[in-house]
Amino acid sequence: MKQTTPLSNTARLAGRVALVSGGAKGIGRAIVLQLASDGADVAIVVRSDRSAAEATAREVEQLGRRALVCLCDLTDASAVNALIEQVESQLGPLDLLVNNAGGTAPGSLLTLSEASWDSVFTNNAKSCFLLSVAAARSMVSRNMGAIVNIAGASAHRSYPGAGAYGPSKAAVVSLTVQMSLEWAQYGIRVNGVSPGPIREPDTDWQAAEPALAEEVSRLPLKRAGTPMDVAKAVAFLGSDDADYMTGQMMIVDGGGVNTWYLAG
Ligand SMILES: NC(=O)c1ccc[n+]([C@@H]2O[C@H](COP(=O)([O-])OP(=O)(O)OC[C@H]3O[C@@H](n4cnc5c(N)ncnc54)[C@H](OP(=O)(O)O)[C@@H]3O)[C@@H](O)[C@H]2O)c1
Repeated sequence: MKQTTPLSNTARLAGRVALVSGGAKGIGRAIVLQLASDGADVAIVVRSDRSAAEATAREVEQLGRRALVCLCDLTDASAVNALIEQVESQLGPLDLLVNNAGGTAPGSLLTLSEASWDSVFTNNAKSCFLLSVAAARSMVSRNMGAIVNIAGASAHRSYPGAGAYGPSKAAVVSLTVQMSLEWAQYGIRVNGVSPGPIREPDTDWQAAEPALAEEVSRLPLKRAGTPMDVAKAVAFLGSDDADYMTGQMMIVDGGGVNTWYLAG
């Protein structure tokens, strides 16, 4: 039986304030709930889906933690700076940032429009840069902080047909290393998680996505990951349990990165 609910409260993030971008649903929601289970108060940031964010916020409050819902377009620098001020004035100084928001656009390199390329890079790489810098400016003054970036297995082994996604997530991996080196002197650790195929376990996603289901059957661990598989890795990297780790990516993909499983 796969774990779909947060691990029991270890209190390893007790008293910490976390911000999770895209924290309303999917992987982001699981991260929010795991961090709250570990004792953190959490700001949930979405672009527009307030009702999903508010539903997740209620789940955080049921775990006994504070939640704040913020709407922000993370590709807008001034909005991002105002976001950090809002979160810190309402929840307190930010201890942990999780850059989870992101997106893709279909299209191989020969068919991808320039607009799609720009939009995927802006949504995945530029938003990670803007939010991380805004958060780090606050963390630097306290000489502490942790940042966890969600990239993707496609950053490490390209997936044909999504021409901009893998390259944009490779930029997130490189940015993770860059930030870790520049900010170690300020006590800020920066790591990342690269998920493989992640699907909600109790849905019949295999019927809707038979090609992906076939690929998943060839993974060493022979299943899709769950949002909670990713969340557990994020909570570890964001906590003092990973105190001596910075500039690292954890690939949470059922072992796929080491195989040729995509070659059909
Ligand atoms: N699912 C997978 O199999 C998988 C695999 C590898 C990596 N990943 C990565 O994991 C992360 C989460 O994936 P997911 O599938 O759980 O995501 P999702 O369900 O598509 O949700 C994405 C979230 O990000 C928010 N968002 C996107 N662009 C934004 C922006 N410019 N400003 C503010 N918020 C923004 C969305 O808010 P709104 O709804 O309000 O727009 C939404 O809450 C992404 O970075 C994705 O690339 C996912």
